[in-house]
Order: sequence, then C-alpha cells, then structure tokens
Amino acid sequence: MKYLSSYFTFATIIAFLFSFEPPSLDTREKFVQCLYNYPNISNSISNVVYTQTNSSYSSILDMSIRNYRFSNLSSKLQVIVTPFDVSHIQATIMCSQRHGLQIRTRSGGHDYEGLSYVAQVPFVIIDLFNLRQITVDVENQTAWVQAGANLGELYYTISQKSKILGFPAGVCATVGVGGHFSGGGYGSLMRKYGLAADNIIDAHIIDVNGNLLDREAMGEDLFWAIRGGGGASFGVIVDWKIKLVPVPSTVTVFNVARTLEENATEIIQKWQLVVNKLDERIFIRVDVKKVNSVEHGKQTIQANFVSMFQGGVEELIPLMQKNLPELGLDRKDCTETSWIGSVLFANAVYLGTNYTNEAPEVLLNRSRYRDGIVKAKSDYVRKPIPIDGLQGLWRLLYEVPDGELELAPYGGRMDEISETEIPFSHRSGIIYHIHYVVVWEEEGDEAAERYMNWIRKLYKYMEPYVSNSPRAAYMNYRDLDIGVNNNGYTSYDQASIWGLKYFGNNFRKLAEVKTKVDPHNFFRNEQSIPTLSDEENVSNI
Ligand SMILES: Cc1cc2nc3c(=O)[nH]c(=O)nc-3n(C[C@H](O)[C@H](O)[C@H](O)COP(=O)(O)OP(=O)(O)OC[C@H]3O[C@@H](n4cnc5c(N)ncnc54)[C@H](O)[C@@H]3O)c2cc1C
Ligand SMILES: *[C@@H]1O[C@H](CO)[C@@H](O)[C@H](O)[C@H]1NC(C)=O
Ligand SMILES: *[C@@H]1O[C@H](CO)[C@@H](O)[C@H](O)[C@H]1NC(C)=O
Ligand SMILES: *[C@@H]1O[C@H](CO)[C@@H](O)[C@H](O)[C@H]1NC(C)=O
Ligand SMILES: *[C@@H]1O[C@H](CO)[C@@H](O)[C@H](O)[C@H]1NC(C)=O
Ligand SMILES: *[C@@H]1O[C@H](CO)[C@@H](O)[C@H](O)[C@H]1NC(C)=O
Ligand SMILES: *[C@@H]1O[C@H](CO)[C@@H](O)[C@H](O)[C@H]1NC(C)=O
Ligand SMILES: *[C@@H]1O[C@H](CO)[C@@H](O)[C@H](O)[C@H]1NC(C)=O
Ligand SMILES: *[C@@H]1O[C@H](CO)[C@@H](O)[C@H](O)[C@H]1NC(C)=O
Repeated sequence: MKYLSSYFTFATIIAFLFSFEPPSLDTREKFVQCLYNYPNISNSISNVVYTQTNSSYSSILDMSIRNYRFSNLSSKLQVIVTPFDVSHIQATIMCSQRHGLQIRTRSGGHDYEGLSYVAQVPFVIIDLFNLRQITVDVENQTAWVQAGANLGELYYTISQKSKILGFPAGVCATVGVGGHFSGGGYGSLMRKYGLAADNIIDAHIIDVNGNLLDREAMGEDLFWAIRGGGGASFGVIVDWKIKLVPVPSTVTVFNVARTLEENATEIIQKWQLVVNKLDERIFIRVDVKKVNSVEHGKQTIQANFVSMFQGGVEELIPLMQKNLPELGLDRKDCTETSWIGSVLFANAVYLGTNYTNEAPEVLLNRSRYRDGIVKAKSDYVRKPIPIDGLQGLWRLLYEVPDGELELAPYGGRMDEISETEIPFSHRSGIIYHIHYVVVWEEEGDEAAERYMNWIRKLYKYMEPYVSNSPRAAYMNYRDLDIGVNNNGYTSYDQASIWGLKYFGNNFRKLAEVKTKVDPHNFFRNEQSIPTLSDEENVSNI
C-alpha cells in the first residue's frame, strides 16, 4: 500500500484550509467542494462521495446498519465518503473540521448503539467497506488487515493460506475489524491467546491533523489506547498488523442443549465452578433462552453449551467426564473439524443455520446476519451466582419472546495478562462475562420502550450477583444507559461514570492520551474518551 501523506507539506495544508471560499454555498456543498479541491487528492475522490441526491445514498447507508433500532435516524447525515485510499480519509478529516461537521467512522456497523452511523449533529460518515485488503505472511505468522474487512473475510483468507494458523477474535462473520479490534474482541481462542487486541503488533491511524501514523510514529501511548480503548476517540484506523496464532489441524466442536427439565440450572451451577479453570484449549460458552419444548408441551428455559476444543475428541471426552460430568457429553455430540470448520460452526450456531451444508465462502457474504431491533448490555461475574439467583433470571426470560443471555468463560491466558497491558481491564479473577440481548420486530416507540424497560429491569435484578465498584461493562457491547457525554465539553468526572465501567483504572490514561493527540476533542461521540482540562490534569493526578 502506498500512502500519500508524505507528499503534503504542512504549509500547503494550512494555506489550503484558510484559502478563499465562495460564501453562497451551504455547508454540505462547501464540504464536497473542499474534498474535490483538496491538494494532491487522488482523482478517484469523485467516485466515493455520496450525497442525499445520489440514488445509491440510502443503500450505502443501510448496507451496514446492523441494528434496526437506528434505521431512519440519520437525518443529520450530510455526506457518506467511501474511501479507496488514505488521501480520501485525510481530506475528509481536514474538510470536516473546516466546515464544522463531525465524523462517524464505520467498519462493520455492529455498534450496539449505532454510534458509527447516527449522530445528533451534522456529520459525515466515513464508511471503510472499500478498504478490506488482507495480506497474510505465513512465514512470519502475521497479517495486515484493513479496517473495513470483517471477521469472516479475515478468517477465510487466513485459512486459504494455512490450515494451522488462526486468529483469536469474535464469532459473527460480519463484525468489522475496525470497531472489534479497537474495542477488545473475544472469541473461542480467548482462553489460550487472549483478545484480538492482545495480538495486534502494528497499525496505521490518521490523526486529527491528517497525518498517517504507524506504531513507531504514533508512539506507544496512542498504540496502547487504540487496542481496547476504541478507535473513534483518536482518529481513523486504516489497518492493523496482527500476530497469527497456531491452531491444531484437528479441533472439536459441540453444541449440546439442556432444558430446565434436563437439569440445565444444576449444570450451569457446576459450569460456573470449573469453566475458568479448565485446560486453556477449551472454551465452553452457554447461551440461555426461552424455548417451546415439544417434549414437555410447554415453555421452558434452554441452555446451549457451545464449545470449541483445540484438540481431538479422544482427548476431549475424558476432560469433560472429569470436569463437567453433569453435562453428559457424548462422543456423538462432537464433531472433529479444522479451525475454519469451527469458525463456520460457531457462525452457524449464531445464525441458526445448518453448518454441515455450508462452504467456507459463506463467510464472505456480508448480507448474512441476524436482523432485528436490538438492545444489549453486559456484566462481569467474579463469584458463582447461587441457584436462586439463576432461577430469578429464568423467570425474567419468560417475560419476552426473544431475550437471550450469553455466558462466556474467562481464565487461562486472560488471567495472565495484566489489567494495564492494554485499556481492556477485565482480566484476572473474572469467571465469565454475561452478554444480555433482547431482539424484537414490532416497530414504534411503544414496543421499544417495553423491551428496553425489560432489559433494564433484568440489569437491575443482576446487580447483587455481578462485579461492583464499579460495575464493569464491555465496551464492544456498547450501552448508552451507563452514561453519555454532552455534545460539547464533558469533564473527566462526568465521563468517569461510564468510563470506569469499561476501562477501570485505565480510563485516566486514556484521557491523557486523548488530550495529547486530539486536544480540541474533534473525534467525539456519546461515549468518546474526554479531554482533560488544565485543572483536571493538575488536580486529579
Ligand atoms: C451480531 C453481533 C455479534 C458480535 N459478536 C461479538 C463477539 O463474538 N465478540 C466480541 O468481542 N464482540 C462481538 N460483538 C461486538 C462487536 O465487537 C462490536 O460491536 C464492534 O465494535 C463492532 O465493530 P464494527 O466495525 O462492526 O462496528 P462499527 O459500528 O463500524 O464500529 C464500532 C465503533 O468503532 C468505531 N470504528 C469503527 N471502525 C473504526 C476505524 N477504522 N477507526 C476508528 N474507529 C472506528 C466506530 O466509529 C464505532 O464507534 C458482536 C456484535 C454484534 C452486533
Ligand atoms: C503534489 O505531489 C507531487 C508529487 O506527486 C509534488 O511534487 C507536489 O509538490 C505536490 N503538491 C502539493 C501542493 O503538495
Ligand atoms: C453517486 O455517487 C457515486 C460516488 O460518488 C458516483 O460514482 C455516482 O456516479 C453517483 N450516482 C449518481 C446517479 O449521481
Ligand atoms: C424505516 O423506513 C422504512 C421506509 O420508510 C420503513 O419501511 C421501515 O419500517 C422503517 N424502519 C423503522 C425501524 O422504523
Ligand atoms: C518475514 O519478515 C522478515 C523480516 O521482517 C522479512 O524480511 C521477510 O520478507 C518476511 N517474509 C515474508 C514472506 O514476507
Ligand atoms: C438430573 O439430575 C438428577 C439428580 O442428579 C438425575 O437423577 C437425573 O437423571 C438428571 N436428569 C437428566 C435428564 O439428566
Ligand atoms: C444438516 O445437513 C446435513 C447434511 O446435509 C444433514 O445430514 C443433517 O440432517 C442436517 N441437520 C439438520 C438439523 O437439519
Ligand atoms: C448472502 O446471504 C443472503 C442472506 O442469507 C442470501 O440471501 C444471499 O443469497 C447470499 N448471497 C450469496 C452470493 O450467496
Ligand atoms: C498535564 O500537564 C503537564 C504539565 O503542565 C503537561 O506537560 C502535560 O502535557 C499535561 N498532560 C495532559 C494530558 O494534558
């Protein structure tokens, strides 16, 4: 990849920013003119700018709206830019500042609160879907992946080059690496290799001055911040260099369902006691939801134990008999496959499809995701939840058609990495995290209020059972209920309400990095890292 930044002189940019502009045009037109006239911009800029009058505008906007709660809400959107190269991003950043527009950067569009494509002020979307090149270096076990690529594309490309290399990141193929890696990124290799963000070794970011910076140029503090602190507060990430990890040629997967009548509660109770202490090659997630039981002719709660083991079934069965015999795992529940097979399997569990019919190419289909209107939340569990606590949870699940809990085990490598290594602070002592999701189809405010109230009630109910002081949350499961910034200046103390939940004691350092790299807080949103005022800088140390 060839970058254009070095061609620019600082003086040229300054001269350009203050050059004469015709006063009669409105902001949007001025902004577009600014892009077209940007010094040394590559010609193709005219092919990547979409305004409302363009017939493709709506389809480009809707293409990566993964949560219909935010359909039809982008009325403040002025322009969508879909860059092909770095100069397009640099021009968008400089021209947005010049014309008082904010920027929302979108990679996969999975943000649970729509922050990559909704804003309450006039703004521009930089949608990175044209930047999704992936270059795998098998010899050195690394890869460069552009921010607009998604997990399916990354996993597929790795598997085409090697059967014994993988990467530890999330499950759903359409999740973008731009948001996912910058917020952490966990999946079934987490207990052995940590998060996606733990395995990033270089990156390119474009900062508020339009400079393209690699790890060396950005410095270790900013490089630290974008591995778990979210990219959106600091600039636009162009690509990541990642360290690939070894995976065995044979892995084993299973998805075993147990209803309450089949002792689901007791099995989960035992699961909580062992799951973070098991061999770090095994990852057993539990998905819990309400189902109609044909056998029992009534509604019940079902727990699906969804697992990936980095080894063969011969080794897995005794491991399970020793540690979680209550599950009664049988050889016929298990499938031996390749690592990419396990990726297909996990994605199919998420989509509810039959993975045995699927070719790895389905991972490249950007339209394969579960649609709906969604609200999510998260929690961290440090001590096992007692049986009556679990039973109260089940009672709440009966109240809505489509509420789901996903319990994901920690331990292993996650226990070894220090809380300050990267901004993601949820490490040693965590047994598992909970991802709460409610999905609905009815449109309108009344339905939305009903389901939002339900998940808030659930969250309140869980308070005594989960982490506290602060009650921790996972940034990639974005939740604006836990606190938002003002759209002007937000003090460090105000932002700490949500910031300490996501980042613990790393929040302070994130604010310091932010103050250094974006002192005027151009890159901001409802939960962006705040800048420190002079007083805060002195008084809070
Ligand atoms: C269906 C589904 C499944 C999921 N599964 C998992 C999972 O298995 N594991 C897990 O850890 N998480 C999971 N998540 C959460 C997911 O990791 C986050 O939503 C993640 O932030 C999505 O990244 P994105 O690029 O798709 O989203 P986007 O909405 O595009 O971006 C999310 C945030 O990052 C910012 N951003 C995006 N790209 C850039 C960039 N290039 N530079 C700077 N800032 C950028 C955006 O502005 C926004 O603030 C899942 C979410 C969904 C909806
Ligand atoms: C544009 O780029 C060329 C090299 O490609 C360089 O010679 C020229 O000085 C640049 N012009 C400006 C205004 O930066
Ligand atoms: C829409 O915008 C794209 C990108 O700028 C451009 O290539 C295309 O010609 C435009 N289409 C119309 C109908 O204006
Ligand atoms: C958004 O608008 C479209 C077209 O007007 C409509 O069909 C759709 O139902 C709306 N979606 C929501 C979630 O309101
Ligand atoms: C591996 O890395 C070395 C050192 O950076 C480099 O010289 C070599 O070309 C790389 N190998 C490949 C296949 O790119
Ligand atoms: C549930 O547990 C009880 C007591 O441990 C046991 O007797 C019973 O067989 C289990 N039921 C199922 C379906 O596994
Ligand atoms: C999934 O597909 C395989 C192969 O076509 C088939 O044998 C199996 O019965 C299917 N399973 C389900 C649950 O439909
Ligand atoms: C991609 O997935 C969607 C949704 O499942 C499907 O309708 C479409 O046919 C798929 N496209 C291809 C090329 O397979
Ligand atoms: C805090 O203040 C010190 C001393 O004035 C200054 O050097 C430093 O850059 C400031 N840090 C931030 C993050 O503003």
